[in-house]
Amino acid sequence: MLVAMPESLKAEHEDLWADLERAIRIGGRIGEAARALEPLVRLHFRREDDTVLLALGLLHTVAQGKVTPGMHEIIVMADRLKTELPEMLAEHDQIRKTLERLGQEATKQGRPQVAYFAARLLHHASLEEEVLYPAAIVLGEYLKSRLAPFEALPSNEESRSAETAAPA
Ligand SMILES: [Fe+2]
Ligand SMILES: [Fe+2]
Repeated sequence: MLVAMPESLKAEHEDLWADLERAIRIGGRIGEAARALEPLVRLHFRREDDTVLLALGLLHTVAQGKVTPGMHEIIVMADRLKTELPEMLAEHDQIRKTLERLGQEATKQGRPQVAYFAARLLHHASLEEEVLYPAAIVLGEYLKSRLAPFEALPSNEESRSAETAAPA
């Protein structure tokens, strides 16, 4: 099944990344603090793009009651997120610490746009911890319970049932 990240979340990661690159280009102490953030954010965003955000691409469809056996891969992604969650939260902590330094430098040097970027990225991490990560995990658990009956079907039955999976 073709799964794509929700456009709004994809755009948010892209905007934050563009702001980080702009901060690096400023150079000096701001550029230095932003450069320290770059590898952390690059790895972290990639990991999220492959699990949480991708899984959430189907949230809207599932909320409309459309569930098909092809959504099994979302269960796999949500399970991976559950396993990797402690590491992802540790990455947020590291990002927060580095952002603090960037925010302080930006305020000291009168760069409100960089300070705003630091605040936005902090908010982004909190939103993920409070809403997006739990939503992806709940989505996986929900699909697990909805798709359990299909697991027992022979494969030809499974594909026939795919179009008419039980409504919510
Ligand atoms: Fe993110
Ligand atoms: Fe994150």
